[in-house]
Amino acid sequence: MANKTRKLILGLLCLLIYLGPSSSQSQHDTLVQGEELVIYTELNSVEGRFRIEFISFDAINYYVGIWYNTNADRVSNTVWVANHDNPVFHARSLTIDHNGNLKITYDGDLSILLYSGHEASNVSVVLLDTGNFVLSEISSGRQLWQSFDYPSHVLLPGMKLGVDRKTGQRWFLTSWRSQEVPDSGNFTFGLHPNRTDQLVILLHGVIYWTSGYVNSSSFRLTNSHYSFDYTSNENETYFNYPAVADIYLSINYLGVLFDDKGVIVNCTSASSYLNEGCVAKENHQCRSLNETFSRVFGSWDDIDGFKFNEGDNLTLTYCEAKCLNNCSCVAYASTNEENQTGCEIWSTGPGIASTDASMRRTIYFLGKSN
Ligand SMILES: *[C@@H]1O[C@H](CO)[C@@H](O)[C@H](O)[C@H]1NC(C)=O
Ligand SMILES: *[C@@H]1O[C@H](CO)[C@@H](O)[C@H](O)[C@H]1NC(C)=O
Ligand SMILES: *[C@@H]1O[C@H](CO)[C@@H](O)[C@H](O)[C@H]1NC(C)=O
Ligand SMILES: *[C@@H]1O[C@H](CO)[C@@H](O)[C@H](O)[C@H]1NC(C)=O
Ligand SMILES: *[C@@H]1O[C@H](CO)[C@@H](O)[C@H](O)[C@H]1NC(C)=O
Ligand SMILES: *[C@@H]1O[C@H](CO)[C@@H](O)[C@H](O)[C@H]1NC(C)=O
Ligand SMILES: *[C@@H]1O[C@H](CO)[C@@H](O)[C@H](O)[C@H]1NC(C)=O
Ligand SMILES: *[C@@H]1O[C@H](CO)[C@@H](O)[C@H](O)[C@H]1NC(C)=O
Ligand SMILES: *[C@@H]1O[C@H](CO)[C@@H](O)[C@H](O)[C@H]1NC(C)=O
Ligand SMILES: *[C@@H]1O[C@H](CO)[C@@H](O)[C@H](O)[C@H]1NC(C)=O
Repeated sequence: MANKTRKLILGLLCLLIYLGPSSSQSQHDTLVQGEELVIYTELNSVEGRFRIEFISFDAINYYVGIWYNTNADRVSNTVWVANHDNPVFHARSLTIDHNGNLKITYDGDLSILLYSGHEASNVSVVLLDTGNFVLSEISSGRQLWQSFDYPSHVLLPGMKLGVDRKTGQRWFLTSWRSQEVPDSGNFTFGLHPNRTDQLVILLHGVIYWTSGYVNSSSFRLTNSHYSFDYTSNENETYFNYPAVADIYLSINYLGVLFDDKGVIVNCTSASSYLNEGCVAKENHQCRSLNETFSRVFGSWDDIDGFKFNEGDNLTLTYCEAKCLNNCSCVAYASTNEENQTGCEIWSTGPGIASTDASMRRTIYFLGKSN
C-alpha cells in the first residue's frame, strides 16, 4: 500500500513537471536554443494545421513526429517522423543545445542528432503551416536545416522528389514497415536512381512500378487528379506539387500510392503487372537497376518485333512495363508513332539503321544508362 501511494505521488509529480512546459509552450510554434520539447508537450504551427510532439503507436517506441492536426487518428495523419529506424524508449526531449545541435535526447545522456550545429551559433526551429520544420540562424534568418529535406512516407506540397545535383542529396519517400511501425519498410518512391526523367517505386531497390518517361514541365500520374511540376536544371532535378491547397501523397507499407482523393498505384495483386506501370514481381530477378532504356530516334530496317494486339490504346508506360515483365525483352516502341499508342517489343534488337526516312521511329533500347 505504502509503495503504491509513493508511486502515485511520484506519478503526480512527474505529471506536474510535464504539465509545466506544456501549458507555457502549447501556443508556440518555435523552439529556441536551450528550450526543450518534452514528452506530452507540443509545438503547433501558427494556424494550427500541423503539430509536432513525441508520438507512440504502441506506448513503447517513441518518435518525434509531425502530424496533420485533425481529430482523426494519428496513425493516418502522421506526415513525418524524425527518428524512424531509431525509436527511443525513455524519451526526454527535443532540444537545441548551445552549439546549435538539434537533437532528441533520451535515456539520460544519449541523443539522436538531427542537425549538427556549429559553436556559438544562435538558432531556432519553427513548425510552419506547410508542415515544414525549419531550423534557421536567428541573426541572418539563414535556413540551416528543414524536415522537408528528409521525407518520411508523405509528400506535402512544397516538398521535392528528386536529387540535388551539387550535394548529391536525394529526396524520396520511404514506406513504413507496417501500418503502425514508422521504421523504414520495403518500398521507396522517387526519381529513378539512374535517370532523371521518370518516377519509380522501388521494392528493396528494384523497380516495382514506373511512371514512364516525363517530357514536360507538368506531369500527372494516371489515376491522379493532381499534376506534378517537373524541374530540371544544372543544380537540381525534382518533381513537386506546387505549394497550394491540401494535396498530400503517401506510400503505405504495401507499396500502394495514395493521394487524398484515392489510390494512384496498387501493384499488390499477382495479376497487377497488367496494370499500368507495374512490373511483375517474378521478373525482378532478371531486371537490375543498371538496365534502363535509352531513347533512340532513327530509321530502322527490320522492325518486326512482337506486337501486342490489345487494341491501339496501350500507352508507352504500359509498353515499358510489358517489356520489363518479359525477361527476354531488350527493346520496345509504340506501334503508332504519332499518338504513342500500341506496343511492340523485341528480344533481339531491331535491325540496323535504314536509309529510308519513312522508317523513322522512336525505339527504347535496354542498355546501361549514362
Ligand atoms: C540568441 O539571440 C536572441 C535574439 O537575438 C538573444 O535574445 C539570445 O540571448 C541569443 N542567445 C544566445 C545563446 O546567444
Ligand atoms: C518486406 O520484405 C520482407 C523481406 O522480403 C518480407 O518478409 C516482408 O513481409 C515484407 N513486408 C511487406 C509489408 O511487404
Ligand atoms: C518531348 O518534347 C519535345 C519538346 O516538346 C518534343 O520535341 C519531343 O518530340 C518530345 N518527345 C517525346 C518522345 O514525346
Ligand atoms: C544554380 O546555382 C547557382 C549557384 O547557386 C545559381 O547562380 C544559378 O542561378 C542556379 N541555376 C538555376 C537554374 O537555378
Ligand atoms: C490493392 O489491390 C488489391 C488486389 O486487387 C486489393 O485487394 C486491395 O484492396 C487494393 N488496395 C487498396 C488500398 O485499394
Ligand atoms: C546506375 O548505373 C550505373 C552505371 O551503369 C551502375 O554502376 C549503378 O549500379 C546503377 N545504380 C543502381 C542503383 O543500380
Ligand atoms: C548490372 O548489375 C548486375 C549486378 O547488379 C551485374 O551483374 C551486371 O553485369 C550489370 N550489367 C551491366 C550491363 O553492367
Ligand atoms: C481508345 O481510345 C479512344 C480515343 O480516346 C476511345 O474512344 C476508345 O474507347 C478507346 N478504346 C479502348 C478499348 O479503350
Ligand atoms: C492512334 O493512332 C492509330 C493509328 O493512326 C489509330 O488507329 C488509333 O485509334 C489512335 N489511338 C488513339 C487513342 O487516338
Ligand atoms: C517475350 O517477348 C518475346 C519477344 O521479345 C515473345 O516472343 C514472347 O512471347 C514473350 N513472352 C511472354 C511471356 O510474353
